[in-house]
Amino acid sequence: MFGRERIELKSPEQMLLMRRAGLVVADAHAAVRAAVAVGVTTAELDAVAAGVLAEAGAGSSFLGYHDYPAVLCVSVNDEVVHGIPGERELAAGDVVSVDFGAVVDGWHGDAAFSMVVPGAVDDGDDALVATTQAAMWAGIAALATADRLGVVGEAVEDVVDAAHEAGLNAGVRYGIVEDYVGHGIGTQMHQPPDVLNYRTRDRGPRLRPGMCLAVEPMLVRGEQESDVLEDDWTVVTRDGSRAAHWEHTVALHEGGIWVLTSPDGGAEALAALGVQVAPLG
Ligand code: MF3
Ligand code: CO
Repeated sequence: MFGRERIELKSPEQMLLMRRAGLVVADAHAAVRAAVAVGVTTAELDAVAAGVLAEAGAGSSFLGYHDYPAVLCVSVNDEVVHGIPGERELAAGDVVSVDFGAVVDGWHGDAAFSMVVPGAVDDGDDALVATTQAAMWAGIAALATADRLGVVGEAVEDVVDAAHEAGLNAGVRYGIVEDYVGHGIGTQMHQPPDVLNYRTRDRGPRLRPGMCLAVEPMLVRGEQESDVLEDDWTVVTRDGSRAAHWEHTVALHEGGIWVLTSPDGGAEALAALGVQVAPLG
């Protein structure tokens, strides 16, 4: 389930290098978000992100990773993750998930956001995006005080349960995608441990200062089962329901937690959950 491979622990100095990658990711997110509009192609969004990398003199975590052909993943509607940018034009009301990773001096940052293309926003899709974002922050907040990594999945499930009790998604409990999980991150984009988004009996590895983790829940409006398309990348829901994906890279250090891919380190979102962030440097 969680695996028990060796986890790379980072020094505060190494976390500061990861912060540089994280801020490039944040810049790219802002630029791509601003570029999302009706008629824009997903390849155009990829070009915007590539421009941010070039300007920063940073590398892409994704380009060439198992031969992945772009710097961005853009996943639309029933696409969950790993959508390859191309000639598809965005339409009003599309649910767009954007995932981007940067590497600076050998240290990675990785984050994702979802949004609905303005023009014809469906309240149900809006709620999907907001609930997935809330699930991510709840998972991150749980890391601040917990002793085991399993708290992330518990927090995600709690947010999904609360949304269900509040009657969101027409009474259908959001599915939590299980085929893809969060991960350790540092000198490689994907490292141990797996960060599960669902509850298990195994409470997971012990949380330690020096861990850097990508927390990335994926929620869907129907069943959680997914398939990979013929392109060998694009992950879609089996039932065609729409999906959202949010991700941040989080550092755990002696003083607390710090969200490396958020410009404010996660301060605002986590304060709302009663957690004070602890920036380094
Ligand atoms: N960023 C994704 C993740 O969150 C991985 C992207 S796969 C790639 O783990 F091939 F595009 F790099
Ligand atoms: Co990731």
